[in-house]
Amino acid sequence: MAGNRTLTMIKPDAVKAGNIGNILQMMNSAGFKIVAMKYTKLSKEKAGEFYAVHKERPFYGELVDFMSSGPIVAAILEKDNAVEDFRTLIGATNPADAAEGTIRAKYATSIGENAVHGSDSDENAQIESSFHFAGTEVFA
Ligand code: CMP
Repeated sequence: MAGNRTLTMIKPDAVKAGNIGNILQMMNSAGFKIVAMKYTKLSKEKAGEFYAVHKERPFYGELVDFMSSGPIVAAILEKDNAVEDFRTLIGATNPADAAEGTIRAKYATSIGENAVHGSDSDENAQIESSFHFAGTEVFA
């Protein structure tokens, strides 16, 4: 059965560009309820830990540098079929391939600086949510 929560991050590029409000608005309009949220900054170490699954990829160093380059907004979002529906809302990893009207089509500038993160499975949604939030920080 599909889970009803996913983890998102509004990445440093989108924060820097002043797009936090616009992106949260798109999430709300698409039916996602925010059940946890924080404005924070990842250290290099924490960014490396979050993306450890990509450690062997050639872009790992660049990804860790970028994700620790400035503040982010982390949030847990709730909706039926959250992981899949959120990935539809954000669009393809590379904004050049992202469908019109998606968050990445509107706000991402490159495959690396792609405005938002969305969990890719229910299992990772759980792991990534626990990475950013304690149980006491989640309000259903
Ligand atoms: P995200 O959905 O946060 O998960 C992994 C991230 O790695 C992805 O978004 C991109 O920001 C980044 N990424 C994936 N492929 C590349 C690439 N070819 N070059 C740089 N960054 C990449």
